[in-house]
Amino acid sequence: MLGMSRREFLLGSAATFAASSTTYAIAKNALSADLQLPLNYLSHEIVPGKITEHMMGFGIGGPAPTIRFKQHQTKTIDVVNNLREASIVHWHGLRHQNDMDGVPYLTQKPIEMGERFRYNVTSPDAGTFWYHPHCNTLDQMGRGMTGLLIVEELEDPGFDHDLALNIRDFRLGTDGQFVAMFKPRLAARGGTLGTVSTVNWQVQPTYDFPAGSLVRLRLAVTDVTRVGNYQISGADAHVIALDSHPVPQPLPASDILLAPGQRADVALRMPDKEGEVAELFLNILSGPRLMATFRSVGPSLGRSLAELKQLPRNPVKEPDLANAEILDFTFGWTPDGAEPLQSICGSLGYVFWSINRKPWLGDTPGPLDPLATMKLGKSYILRLRNNTPNDHPIHLHGLAFKLIRSDKRQLPPLFTDTALLQSGETMDVALVADNPGYWAFHCHVIEHQKTGLTGYLRVEG
Ligand code: C2O
Ligand code: CU
Ligand code: CU
Repeated sequence: MLGMSRREFLLGSAATFAASSTTYAIAKNALSADLQLPLNYLSHEIVPGKITEHMMGFGIGGPAPTIRFKQHQTKTIDVVNNLREASIVHWHGLRHQNDMDGVPYLTQKPIEMGERFRYNVTSPDAGTFWYHPHCNTLDQMGRGMTGLLIVEELEDPGFDHDLALNIRDFRLGTDGQFVAMFKPRLAARGGTLGTVSTVNWQVQPTYDFPAGSLVRLRLAVTDVTRVGNYQISGADAHVIALDSHPVPQPLPASDILLAPGQRADVALRMPDKEGEVAELFLNILSGPRLMATFRSVGPSLGRSLAELKQLPRNPVKEPDLANAEILDFTFGWTPDGAEPLQSICGSLGYVFWSINRKPWLGDTPGPLDPLATMKLGKSYILRLRNNTPNDHPIHLHGLAFKLIRSDKRQLPPLFTDTALLQSGETMDVALVADNPGYWAFHCHVIEHQKTGLTGYLRVEG
């Protein structure tokens, strides 16, 4: 990007970009990556007895691999695009280098079919993160491309087991095959829900753990639409981290509200008797829906939740509220007459939403201007105003922000990368702009993201 202005980059100075990326590829190919992440088509039995065709995934054959590395380590990941369309991979929640963030046109060009791109993935924070495409996002995520990324604490907190739970729906018909990914009239409202709820691509899986052992459950809602309330019952359990950041006090695991993109780490103490179970439920209007079962096996290990070490705080800077500048963002309808732009990352064919009256589809070359520019090292309050009757999980790449206040409810003073902004709510969140770059800022209901509820913020380096 040296010698090139952002505007030139976004407009696509194709020749310059191609030349520099070729040099990069040759130099890096000398060494093999820590992990190969092929993007493939596949079939899988999600609903028992029915093979779902035309799925898209990471790796070969099944659900996306859970990627693990230690805090501050760097992992090289080669994404090889075996799809017949362009893609790109974003690492949700990582406060890393902008050019590894995986947003088309903003941080790199899309990875076209047959191409390979090497990501150097690293994180200053420990916790539960995830990864997904940011190109033709509704279709690619909808067909299966979502996986967990776990950054381990430098010091082991003392669990016996650690289980990633990739929680999401699929939109399948009674024959187990995909139905249309969305309905336009729902995309203009709360979004289109899936028809089959899964955990790790299974309907109501059961996991066995030693009786009386301590298990760290990592819940990640990677669904494109569903906001849900989750509950663990049948055993002692509490929430120890939300959206990868440890909570100061453990919270009850009976009322865990998770929107698309959000995560919760739960410390679970397995029941003492062989065959006893703990259960994960999703509470929906019609009642609790069983999502997964955790079953005790063998003699009790007799462990206690009190033996766990407190998770260390992540190195996120406290914003200086007294000197913070306020930046306003209004989430609303799109101005009349906005037309969807076509791009190699697909289009849903509609523009319904906008931020500050500017709709962006998130994966087209533009808009050329950031919604706001922040100075490196300064504190800001982002005033998020929801002018719509729907909820929007608002996500910011590359930075963590702190929940400050709402005009509707009491907010816990937690850091996050994705906050659920309720209908009609105005919420203040604050951050220190300590990571330079161009950071995507959007609703994580993918139908909203893809129909205008996307923009980006710039942190001047
Ligand atoms: Cu999971 Cu642009 O986000
Ligand atoms: Cu993200
Ligand atoms: Cu939304």
